[in-house]
Amino acid sequence: MITAIVGTQWGDEGKGRICHYEAQRAKMVIRCAGGNNAGHTVVYEGKKYALHLLPSSIVNPYVLSVIGTGTVIDPKALINEIESLRAEGVDIEPDNLVISNRAHVTMNIHIVLDKVMETLRGSKKIGTTGKGIGPTYSEKASRTSIRMCDLIGDYEALKEKISLIVKVHKPLIESVGDLTYHYQSVVKKLADEYYEYGKKLAEFVQDTKPIVYNCIKEGGNIIMEGAQSTFLDLDQGSYPDVTSSNCLASGCCTGAGIGITQVDEVIGVMKAYTSRVGEGPFPTEQENEIGDRIRFLGHEYGTTTGRPRRCGWLDLVMISDAVYLNGCTALALNHLDTIGKFDEIKVCCGYNYHGKFIQHVPVDHENCKPCYETFKGGWNTEGATTLEEIGEDAVKFVKFIEEYIEVPVVYIGIGPDASQIIIR
Ligand code: GDP
Ligand code: IMO
Ligand code: MG
Repeated sequence: MITAIVGTQWGDEGKGRICHYEAQRAKMVIRCAGGNNAGHTVVYEGKKYALHLLPSSIVNPYVLSVIGTGTVIDPKALINEIESLRAEGVDIEPDNLVISNRAHVTMNIHIVLDKVMETLRGSKKIGTTGKGIGPTYSEKASRTSIRMCDLIGDYEALKEKISLIVKVHKPLIESVGDLTYHYQSVVKKLADEYYEYGKKLAEFVQDTKPIVYNCIKEGGNIIMEGAQSTFLDLDQGSYPDVTSSNCLASGCCTGAGIGITQVDEVIGVMKAYTSRVGEGPFPTEQENEIGDRIRFLGHEYGTTTGRPRRCGWLDLVMISDAVYLNGCTALALNHLDTIGKFDEIKVCCGYNYHGKFIQHVPVDHENCKPCYETFKGGWNTEGATTLEEIGEDAVKFVKFIEEYIEVPVVYIGIGPDASQIIIR
């Protein structure tokens, strides 16, 4: 059984906690795209883990965690992530972590470039995580990038590849004060630094293709852990306020190296409200005390950057588009506890768009005015093991989502802990 777990909004829907839950019955969990711009939270046995590049299964030693081909890897950040998790007692060994030798490498040049481009964009900045993601994917598309296999291969060959990258980015390197451009010395410095990272990660780097194939052949359950989200997708999201990878279930297949016809299930993860970090359109945003209250109750601060997340009401038009774009077969609805603290809950069911009523996300999302339905909240989810135990109003809310989207809600999050989840 192969399951893709993807975000249906603008990220941070709680994909990590759903992947961690699903991982209990899996042999392998694969991070398919994105890099350490992701921040996936897992709260397990009273401990909170913030995972960036490592799959959310890493806290479970019985599962093989795979950092797939479609990801971009900042090796320095990955080494830090591995070391800090090990210090917390998490087992990370070559028998439970594998890194694709085809994954592309984020270098410090890309991180600098990310920041320089944000400055150049001025008022049109994207609000990136500053992790060098866009420039790494650009390098990959330009076919000048280095991959994990280069870090563990021949030093001279690595140096030659880095020398081309340095030539391409000469104006940038010259413009950054502390990296004085002296061609040979910059190339050598970078080659030495990244070769060293390669040595540290070498034991994990493998061709993941036969490993994934064998798992499929043996009938092992595989989870593809999506990162970022539908509306941050480079092609289908709110361009240019998007990330640079393909975040949909189809992108998971490409990044993991799994054929689309092999996928049995696509779980779309959503929150009972909407949040967004970074710039871009957000029709149901509440820049008022409602948004502040959602942020406070839901602890809506970025896992990666600590930035306060923009918050607003649930937008079912977006979820409906996301279900279609990803081919979702089921939904996981998180933060039912958080939204239930409001006596009155609004849900966007359509847009007023240039005087017309529409129920899809148009290219100029910023011109959409939400049309809301109102629900009675004020429920208490504490200790609930079924939706019915939470009460009639919560049942009405969830049933309305299911009827609108026409896909069943199979998981309901009622708190951040792994145990605070209702399975239907
Ligand atoms: P991801 O990037 O999609 O994995 O999501 P993040 O981990 O960035 O953000 C989700 C946040 O919501 C984390 O702090 C989770 O611990 C928290 N969370 C997830 N599900 C629930 C839920 O049902 N209730 C509450 N109160 N918190 C939740
Ligand atoms: P997870 O997997 C929320 C956002 C950034 C910015 C835009 C581009 O935790 O849901 P980038 O650094 O990727 O070039 O930034 O995308 N962004 C995320 N927002 N959750 C994420 O990941 C995100 N990854 C990137 O805030 O708006
Ligand atoms: Mg996150």
